[in-house]
Amino acid sequence: MHAKKINIAIDGFSSCGKSTMAKDLARKLGYTYIDSGAMYRAVALYAIRKGWITETTMDEEALREHVSEIKITFAPNAQGSQDTYLNGENVEDDIRTLEVANGASRVSTLGFVRKELVRQQQEMGKEKGVVMDGRDIGTVVLPDAELKLFVTAPPEIRAQRRFDEMKAKGINPPAYEDILANVKERDLRDTTRAESPLRKADDAIELDNTHVDIEGQLQWALDMFNRITVKN
Ligand code: DC
Repeated sequence: MHAKKINIAIDGFSSCGKSTMAKDLARKLGYTYIDSGAMYRAVALYAIRKGWITETTMDEEALREHVSEIKITFAPNAQGSQDTYLNGENVEDDIRTLEVANGASRVSTLGFVRKELVRQQQEMGKEKGVVMDGRDIGTVVLPDAELKLFVTAPPEIRAQRRFDEMKAKGINPPAYEDILANVKERDLRDTTRAESPLRKADDAIELDNTHVDIEGQLQWALDMFNRITVKN
């Protein structure tokens, strides 16, 4: 681990490349990467499997009653990244579908879900040396993080990246227009929900990465990290 041990919060819109930045940064610094979005996705997957979420309905009461049965953990995988586990089952692939992304966006509006996940996330950040990405990390989960980054790009760019990413993975992507509509729908829900809406923390540093590639955004994040001085 890097001799400088701090917490790094990375927030931004869906599909803006913040997870790539967070993973790369964590690897470079020897820090622990925590994908807070994967936790909302895992809750959504659990609810979808139980039939509590359909395309048009959400059974809030069932979720409220059973939320404590949902245990989410992370473990390293062979690719040098990490996989998400739901009650001991590796669900890393299952949580990456559009259906689950939509479900995650919906369960993340529920105060009792946020309360439980924020509690777990704060626990994970206690030891420092963590890079956590999400929507409310700099504002709510780790308000004392020494470094806060906020990543943006227009919805059209983010939808195109999502489309290209699926193709590269050999997944047959939905039409570009459908992905764009989905990105916009999630942006609206993430920024307008009553509970911890997506917002740049006052002390976060912003990057619009429209014209910045993966290496470029990592270098930018490292430059921001190097600016931080800590008293030990
Ligand atoms: O980053 P992502 O697409 O995996 O996140 C999935 C959903 O979870 C997204 O619609 C917003 C929500 N989310 C949240 O509300 N708070 C977080 N800290 C992370 C994700």
